Amino acid sequence: KSGYITMDPGFGSTGACFSDITYVDGERGILRYRGYPIEQIAERASFVETCSLIIYGELPDAETLNRFRRALAEHAPLHTSLYHYFSGFPESSPPMAILSAMLNLVSCFHPGVLEVHSEGHGFDRTAALLLSKVRTIAAWSYRMSVGKPFNQPNPHLTYCANFLHMMFSEPFQEYIPSPAVERALALFLILHADHEQNCSTSTVRTVASSRANLFSSVASGVCALWGPLHGGANAAVIEMLEEIMASGRKIDYYINRAKDKSNDYKLMGFGHRVYKNFDPRASILKKRVYEVLAELHKSDPLLDIALELEEKTLKDEYFISRKLYPNVDFYSGILLRAIGIPPEMYTVMFAIGRMPGWIANWRELHDQNLRITRPRQVYTGRQERSFVPLEER
Ligand code: SDX
Repeated sequence: KSGYITMDPGFGSTGACFSDITYVDGERGILRYRGYPIEQIAERASFVETCSLIIYGELPDAETLNRFRRALAEHAPLHTSLYHYFSGFPESSPPMAILSAMLNLVSCFHPGVLEVHSEGHGFDRTAALLLSKVRTIAAWSYRMSVGKPFNQPNPHLTYCANFLHMMFSEPFQEYIPSPAVERALALFLILHADHEQNCSTSTVRTVASSRANLFSSVASGVCALWGPLHGGANAAVIEMLEEIMASGRKIDYYINRAKDKSNDYKLMGFGHRVYKNFDPRASILKKRVYEVLAELHKSDPLLDIALELEEKTLKDEYFISRKLYPNVDFYSGILLRAIGIPPEMYTVMFAIGRMPGWIANWRELHDQNLRITRPRQVYTGRQERSFVPLEER
């Protein structure tokens, strides 16, 4: 149970790793965190319970949960010296750039966290510190981008309410989310908490395999997540839906454009490396979006466009034959829109949600004492040849 196995030797190494954290069955649309079906976790767990389950392997009892919550509350504030670094970023800085930079920077103000190993108080403290501070960094990067003062975390609020407070409270008007908004944010984070060996998580494991510390490992995950084919897709879906709405064109125009191989246009939020029938997270989000909009007495024309897009692709041979269905990103942006999160923060929200999965994978790799990751390659370059002097080239 250690190291990588090499499969499909005839088609090159598709090294797979052993993990106990998340199970995904792409054909049957099954996703389980430590054996618990995502549908049950989404319905009955809080995000903090989900973090504890994913990182430590069991649903926490009341004492464990309260201790974890206290640690998250304790670690929410940022070192005052970090304020100066925020003011050094241009206001137009991408929040994902700020997040990856600040995650490494935070470790400079917490001596000893760089030596943490996968067990014991040091790890517990560092895991809580990262889970809590990623929220504060994200909220402050947003406040800085809109030229507003930072809100200090409130230790008496829940994980989600505290984040929304730091995002939206004003000097004389504390933001108190409705239960519908707080529950919708918790659901978003829960559904993003881990997902087997996706691009960003396998990046975290690769960096961790060199025995890099937890901060630099998760900061590398943030960078991998940023790409539009991965975590950047949720914002790209909203951009696509807004373009469709503004264009006045029929949806068929965009479906045909995605099928036209002369361009690289894709329908964002469709397709998945693993799910080939449906992404269970997309199903849960689609149902919840309706509920949240109704609870908030809102409507969103983008939802109608999304539904029509899904309905038409489900009948289209190009999408059916390639098993392209809505993924977690297709409806997640509409949910975030409904609760007032600005589009530039969507991928950052994905990173906040995925933090427990990155931490759990870093810990698992250390527990398994895995060797450094070293993918093999099939060399397709030039055979040996002799050096040519400059005057003869
Ligand atoms: C996430 O791995 C994870 O678990 C990721 C994630 C997680 O929780 O961590 O689930 C989160 O990243 C979800 C994916 C978000 N990305 C997007 O929505 C971007 C749009 N989707 C595509 O870029 C694509 O579907 C991927 C990246 C998701 C999957 O890429 P694959 O499996 O490598 O698919 P492919 O590029 O090999 O495509 C196979 C065929 C190609 O056509 P042909 O060459 O066979 O003619 O399907 C086509 C592709 O052109 N295709 C699409 C398409 N996705 C694939 N055509 C139109 N629109 C699309 N979205």
